Amino acid sequence: MINVAILGASGYTGLELMKILLRHPEVTITATTSRQEGRAPVASVHPSLVGRINLPLEDLSPEEVGQRADCVFSCLPHCASAEILPQVLATGATVIDLSADYRLNDAASYLEWYGHEHPDQQRLGATVYGLPELFRSKIRGVKLVANPGCYATSAILPLAPLIKSGWFHSDDIIVDSKSGVSGAGRSPKLMTHFPECNESMSAYNVGRHRHTPEMEQVVGRFAGVTPQLIFTPQLAPMDRGILSTIYIRPNRPVTEAEVLTLLRDAYRGEPFVRIVDHLPATKDTVGTNCCDITARVVRGRVLLISCLDNLLKGASGAAVQNFNCLHGLAETTGLL
Ligand SMILES: NC(=O)c1ccc[n+]([C@@H]2O[C@H](COP(=O)([O-])OP(=O)(O)OC[C@H]3O[C@@H](n4cnc5c(N)ncnc54)[C@H](OP(=O)(O)O)[C@@H]3O)[C@@H](O)[C@H]2O)c1
Repeated sequence: MINVAILGASGYTGLELMKILLRHPEVTITATTSRQEGRAPVASVHPSLVGRINLPLEDLSPEEVGQRADCVFSCLPHCASAEILPQVLATGATVIDLSADYRLNDAASYLEWYGHEHPDQQRLGATVYGLPELFRSKIRGVKLVANPGCYATSAILPLAPLIKSGWFHSDDIIVDSKSGVSGAGRSPKLMTHFPECNESMSAYNVGRHRHTPEMEQVVGRFAGVTPQLIFTPQLAPMDRGILSTIYIRPNRPVTEAEVLTLLRDAYRGEPFVRIVDHLPATKDTVGTNCCDITARVVRGRVLLISCLDNLLKGASGAAVQNFNCLHGLAETTGLL
């Protein structure tokens, strides 16, 4: 059995992780952390876990976390995660970081987009980006995995095979995404306050959302150059789910059938990427670790439409997929 700790277990991704890991045959959850005082039982903070887990939420030091766990999932906010993870890694534990802290390759880009100096710059560029469908061979056996962003996964999975084909311009990509409110985490904020977001939709962080450089960096690995990408996130009045519509211009005429074949060839045998003929809806993927993708050709442009559950394929499901991959287990373990 692999002993596992969850940092920031009082939040939404922590809850989803526990739900998956409690049915994972190779895992024992041995520690759950929170800054809250009083060692509250996990199930008092997450009542859906009543009767399933008998651990307290503890404010543990990195050394104590390392003593209790072989593998640590960090569900902390960015910056807080990279403040603590070097000390966790020093204990010998492996780490899967759900925050954005190790996704970007360079400190200057992190400073530009996240607004502060990265606390652990030596690991930037040396950390594997945990998208098994694209980088599986690099994940097995590493000590630290950067779990991808939710919006980023919904854009990178459909874009990567098309950009790799060389049939498309990489300097004219538009990613238009709608997300459920749980994407903003459990801590209350004005924008996610019920009367503000219920029965309403709004764009936010236009031209400056932090998943933009992440998408450009990863798609750029397939383009050979940094692509030009406009990303417009929008908040949708639903609990969970992301729907992305991606507009990309081919450099020669293409048919819908050709694009769908390209996608099907790229993801053949992948349990968590489904290339579908119909227009997918967020409800098709909520509660699953799947990303559903289709394509249409409209007035010469290709539209890629993808959806996933931001808390599963966009966060905790992907983290367990990475955990399985890292430990040489079947990637579907605990996820189907
Ligand atoms: N929500 C999503 O759809 C999603 C998708 C992909 C990635 N992510 C990333 O995954 C991470 C967790 O997201 P989430 O949605 O689970 O967030 P969340 O619901 O807000 O939970 C984060 C937890 O971290 C703890 N925390 C907050 N600030 C902290 C600090 N300064 N130092 C130490 N602990 C702190 C909090 O626990 P206490 O207050 O109890 O200490 C909180 O419960 C974030 O980095 C987020 O960007 C989220």
